[in-house]
Amino acid sequence: MAQSIVTSPENISRIKTYIKGFDENIQGGIPEGHITLIHGSAGTMKSSLCFSILYNEAILNKKTGLYISLEQSFHSIIKNMVNMGFDMNKINLVYIEDLANFSNNIQELKQGEGNLIVVDIGAIRKLVKDVKVSENRSWLNVVKNIVLKTKKACEFDLLTFDSLSALYTLSTFENPRMELFYLFEYLRDLEITSYLISEENSNSRESIYDSEAFLSDGIIVLRLTPFRRNIVREIKVDKMRATKCNNDVFSFEYRNGAFHAMYGGQNPLL
Ligand SMILES: Nc1ncnc2c1ncn2[C@@H]1O[C@H](COP(=O)(O)OP(=O)(O)O)[C@@H](O)[C@H]1O
Ligand SMILES: [Mg+2]
Repeated sequence: MAQSIVTSPENISRIKTYIKGFDENIQGGIPEGHITLIHGSAGTMKSSLCFSILYNEAILNKKTGLYISLEQSFHSIIKNMVNMGFDMNKINLVYIEDLANFSNNIQELKQGEGNLIVVDIGAIRKLVKDVKVSENRSWLNVVKNIVLKTKKACEFDLLTFDSLSALYTLSTFENPRMELFYLFEYLRDLEITSYLISEENSNSRESIYDSEAFLSDGIIVLRLTPFRRNIVREIKVDKMRATKCNNDVFSFEYRNGAFHAMYGGQNPLL
């Protein structure tokens, strides 16, 4: 399907991050169809932020999101989100832990309503552990197949892939730049908006990060910064194609049921 040419900035549809004080600094949100890296070390709330975007889009815009988790289990993700005050009764949550039941699970999707599909690859891996699988079984292909099967079953709009780094430990990438290029093109062809979680300093694979960074349309960096005897959470945009951004480093907090980004534009507090 040929894409139509954008004729004015207002034509660019955007998807909010639902971070108060942040969307205002990226022209309202991330352009639809973008592939954005959510980059940061452990505990920077990457998974929580991506889940929050899919959750809010399901409720407010009736979008369907697919959350593929390679390592963190479905139950652990939900426990974390419920602890943050997210109400799972507000969304149609579809949980896939066994590919054999995929077609049945997909029936639980509600057409015309927002859905959040969580695919627990960890659970799937445990199931196939005992089955004789070829040595070269590529989890990249398994993941691509899940994305394609879901796309055939329903028109889903948003994808979170948690995480690219976990994929590298499961699949051997002989030429990461090339294989990532094809993965990114594959996602672009599906015309979905993707949030790819990229772990900082995971297995010293920073060279792969360079490839991820070049190929992506956007990079949002989350970090934990020591400050006196405290640690502050921070967020910044390193790259966002088709967007006039404020590249300041914002404080990043989750309180009163919402993410907040603070500061921007004034002289930095030293
Ligand atoms: N109710 C809450 N309010 C604020 N922060 C929370 C709350 N519940 C959990 N967290 C924080 O979320 C962090 C985990 O977030 P997560 O999205 O799993 O991080 P990442 O995916 O980057 O490793 C925990 O370290 C915890 O401090
Ligand atoms: Mg995580």
